[in-house]
Amino acid sequence: MNSKKILITGGCGFIGTNFTHHIVEKYPDYEVIVLDKLTYAGKKENLDDIINKITFIHGDICNKSDVEKATKDVDMIVNFAAESHVDKSIVDSEPFILTEVLGVNRLLEAVKKFNVEKFVQISTDEVYGTIESGSFKETDPLDPRNPYAACKASQELLTRSYFETFNLPILITRTTNNYGSFQNSEKFIPKIISNALQNVPIPLYGDGQQVRDWIYVMDNCEAIDLVLHKGKLGKVYNIRGNNEKRNIDVAKIILKILDKPESLITFVADRLGHDRRYSLDGSKIKKELSWESSTKFEDGIRKTIEWYRNNTSWWLSKN
Ligand SMILES: NC(=O)c1ccc[n+]([C@@H]2O[C@H](COP(=O)([O-])OP(=O)(O)OC[C@H]3O[C@@H](n4cnc5c(N)ncnc54)[C@H](O)[C@@H]3O)[C@@H](O)[C@H]2O)c1
Repeated sequence: MNSKKILITGGCGFIGTNFTHHIVEKYPDYEVIVLDKLTYAGKKENLDDIINKITFIHGDICNKSDVEKATKDVDMIVNFAAESHVDKSIVDSEPFILTEVLGVNRLLEAVKKFNVEKFVQISTDEVYGTIESGSFKETDPLDPRNPYAACKASQELLTRSYFETFNLPILITRTTNNYGSFQNSEKFIPKIISNALQNVPIPLYGDGQQVRDWIYVMDNCEAIDLVLHKGKLGKVYNIRGNNEKRNIDVAKIILKILDKPESLITFVADRLGHDRRYSLDGSKIKKELSWESSTKFEDGIRKTIEWYRNNTSWWLSKN
């Protein structure tokens, strides 16, 4: 196996933590650097068990010298650094514009300056907007409908432009909703689990009929790894979970596993601009890279619940 030096930005957040563990375990010869600003969503302790196998840099992707320090000599970059909560983007979009757009621009400039071999930008199904039936293909137009999604679409366009203009070796993944260990309890599934464990009401937006496709985070890490190593430069890959569910049903499944009453579910005013359904067509990654998600929701959610049960202090502690 060829030894490589990989920079994982945002490696102390939810997906970044899982991806960093995946890379350290799967590629023991790789030199791994994590750059993270440690916002409220990032915890350095997530990497405690592998801290001797990686280099951690506390820094901001919007800061040119932090980025250049981390990027010099690396072969590959996977960018997870982001403001990731839609609700927060509705209250104040500026931090999103900075990290998602300016931060990505800094990374792209560094990729150009230091001749980095690969740059993977992690994006989301939200860039396509809502779809009543059927699923979006990579070639469908982008129609983001909240500030978070608009920032994700912007960073994608910027990334693509560096491929066209400078022939930079970029790849983009668009993923559905992830669930699994290390996700901040502000997010839908951790909130349901942590509230249920504490017997406090579980807020559900609107009528709870919104449909999302759920992917177990380790399946997503596997797919990103594949795109990083085998994806075609300049291309976008949808990564779907094959687990479409209504929000209300997700809440009921979790409550049933935890043996808690459905009366904990409380309907609250809907999120502004709340998209009804997201759905990705996964045929491109299946055809080109022979990949499809393998974890059934019923299995992944049990593992996730177990993790939250066993790590109460993790989700109770604030940074
Ligand atoms: N979670 C999902 O379901 C999901 C779905 C599709 C796409 N995504 C995308 O995947 C990526 C990771 O999402 P996540 O859920 O792990 O997010 P997260 O909020 O859990 O983690 C983000 C990480 O980025 C770090 N960070 C934030 N701003 C930074 C900056 N300026 N410089 C350096 N580090 C910074 C934070 O400290 C944190 O560690 C994001 O791009 C997100 O848009 C997430």
